[in-house]
Amino acid sequence: MEEVWAKAYSSSANLGSGFDVVSLAHDAYYDIVTISAKRGKGDVKIEKIEGPFSSNVNENNSAVYAIKYMMKDLGINNYDILIKIFKGIPVSSGLGGSGASAAASVFALSNVLDLNLSKEQLIKYAGYGEIVSAGVPHYDNVAASLLGNLAVVGKIDNEIYAYSFEIKANFIIFRPIDFYLNNKTQYMRSLLPKYVEFKDHVQDSVKLGILISSLLKGDLKAAGKAMIDTIVTGSRSKAIPCFNEIKEKLISNGAYGVAISGAGPSIIVLFDKNSEELSQIGLNTYKECGISAEAKIVNPAPPASILYGDDRSFPKST
Ligand code: HSE
Repeated sequence: MEEVWAKAYSSSANLGSGFDVVSLAHDAYYDIVTISAKRGKGDVKIEKIEGPFSSNVNENNSAVYAIKYMMKDLGINNYDILIKIFKGIPVSSGLGGSGASAAASVFALSNVLDLNLSKEQLIKYAGYGEIVSAGVPHYDNVAASLLGNLAVVGKIDNEIYAYSFEIKANFIIFRPIDFYLNNKTQYMRSLLPKYVEFKDHVQDSVKLGILISSLLKGDLKAAGKAMIDTIVTGSRSKAIPCFNEIKEKLISNGAYGVAISGAGPSIIVLFDKNSEELSQIGLNTYKECGISAEAKIVNPAPPASILYGDDRSFPKST
């Protein structure tokens, strides 16, 4: 039986003004998925889930969902698939955990069966796996995990367009440790308005354009301003523990931009210098809010990869 190992990194979707369009893959955390295929009748099964964040992952997860959809869509019904997952990305934290498992799974399956799929096809299948947590497909986290770095993705006339860019920027990720909300992404999406003021739409579109362009050009000050949107963050921020306090404290201490990471509760901060000091200020602010949190200084991460040789092992949990 052939077994393929794939690794995919965590990501922060939206970066404020880029709702469902922009996502940054980062080296804060990663998942590893192995896929084995043997002749059979199309069964898909999880063999094991381990790693520091495995306890909140059940059998009906984004990886299984994505694989089943991919097999159905491609008419693959003559293989049984076994999946093993190392869950190194916190679940339900706004760090692209479900997206990374789905991304690694479809990437590994495409490899094990030699399907030679385009990046757009992989994104489509992995994005479908997001239905498990978001209720609908979305492609931002999976695009970042698959393509690496800064991903820009979207569907036009039912066709996926996806790009990724290397950027020179560092971010701090704050993650509240004990926050867990059932169906969190679905809930956070339910807070979004059905209708918006035209002027807010125009301002947030300006910010999205500036966000992408300034990150590509390395104008981090402008990027930080452009992260701070009105429509999405305005509707969600009250549901994000300590968000307004963190934003105010960090911006007044020199951070360039502060945004909800994906659907939260984690927060992503763009800065230029004093990362240790900003991390500490953030952690103190969480403490004042009565919340325990961790801070990680992160770099943009590489694309999903296939693991060979000695890299084919699940890290031991500490
Ligand atoms: N763009 C998605 C959202 C990301 O904000 O709902 C969820 O991880």
